[in-house]
Amino acid sequence: MEFKSVGIKGLGYYVPEKVMTNFDFEKILDTTDEWIRTMTGVEERRYAAPEQATSDLCVEAAKKALADANMTAEDLDMIIVATVTPDYITQSTACLVQNKLGVKQIPCFDVNAACSGFMYALTIAGSMVRGGVYKNILVLGGEVLSRIVDMENRSNCILFGDGAAAAIVSEVEDGYGMLSTHLGAEGEDDMILKIPAGGSKKPNDAETIANKENFLVMKGHDVFKFAVHALPLATNKALKIANVKAEELKMIFPHQANVRIIESAAKRIHVPMEKFYLNLNKYGNTSAASIGLALGEAKEKGLIQKGDLIALTGFGGGLTYGSIIMKWAY
Ligand code: UT7
Repeated sequence: MEFKSVGIKGLGYYVPEKVMTNFDFEKILDTTDEWIRTMTGVEERRYAAPEQATSDLCVEAAKKALADANMTAEDLDMIIVATVTPDYITQSTACLVQNKLGVKQIPCFDVNAACSGFMYALTIAGSMVRGGVYKNILVLGGEVLSRIVDMENRSNCILFGDGAAAAIVSEVEDGYGMLSTHLGAEGEDDMILKIPAGGSKKPNDAETIANKENFLVMKGHDVFKFAVHALPLATNKALKIANVKAEELKMIFPHQANVRIIESAAKRIHVPMEKFYLNLNKYGNTSAASIGLALGEAKEKGLIQKGDLIALTGFGGGLTYGSIIMKWAY
């Protein structure tokens, strides 16, 4: 059986206007610009305006991706949003995006794979299009992380920012698009990366709020250790499935968590740092939005052209990981 070639036909991204710099953090926390830059690579990040929720950021990114693909919202037959900061626990942010775009009667759902969410959602969309029932799927990674971080926790809040990225996944020219995908997870329940309260296990009450259990908790060392093994593992497996050598890659788009994690991954994949696209200095870690935000910005700058071999690779809460190898289709 011949498989369709499936890939990205349009990209868009959106970041809110408000810039929160390391110097702004110096005013409210016992920290310095130098510590944050040296330990993470982040210089500033964007924060959503009070009236903006994740679906609002997603809609802006979606409009740009539709324009990039020469499509209108009417052409979409599915919407998938990867996020850990949905507007509501239910209904899905994808349904809210659908409503705001004015599209009717198409399936819409969210994916929770934390910072690997864009990898998971692209893979799901790719399989759906390959299956033949759906033609044009809007994949979004969107986050308003500024609402779930404890602004008094200096080793945590300085990492994160808000943003959204969108991709239109469709059939592409034969031999182009997604050549392989490798997803995985190492599930844990040890408070390595989670919001402890507000779900069915521990609904929020006065005590959880007083204990700040409604905010993201993270064991930074454990996440770091996982990341430096998961990023190369996922990338190398996806490369092997695609039968592509690391040196053939034009660029790699890693999850923008920490420049030190990316440097370590670069050594293990044997790819020079210059091939890794970085914009974490401007946006920080935007979780599910981060890889799409990097890809969208690079495309806008003309850094990727039709036929280029690229890798997208991420890791995150769960713990989860995923990589996709693509031959760029447009
Ligand atoms: O999408 C996935 C999301 N998460 C990640 O990617 C996180 C991965 N982990 C990391 O990036 C790192 O663990 C951090 C950057 C978060 C922290 O780096 P670290 O090397 O693990 O530092 P640490 O937590 O061991 O802290 C070292 C010191 C501590 O001081 P003492 O105990 O040695 O006196 C911290 O209190 O640095 C201190 N520290 C800070 N100092 C100034 C922690 N945060 C700050 C800060 N400013 N913002």
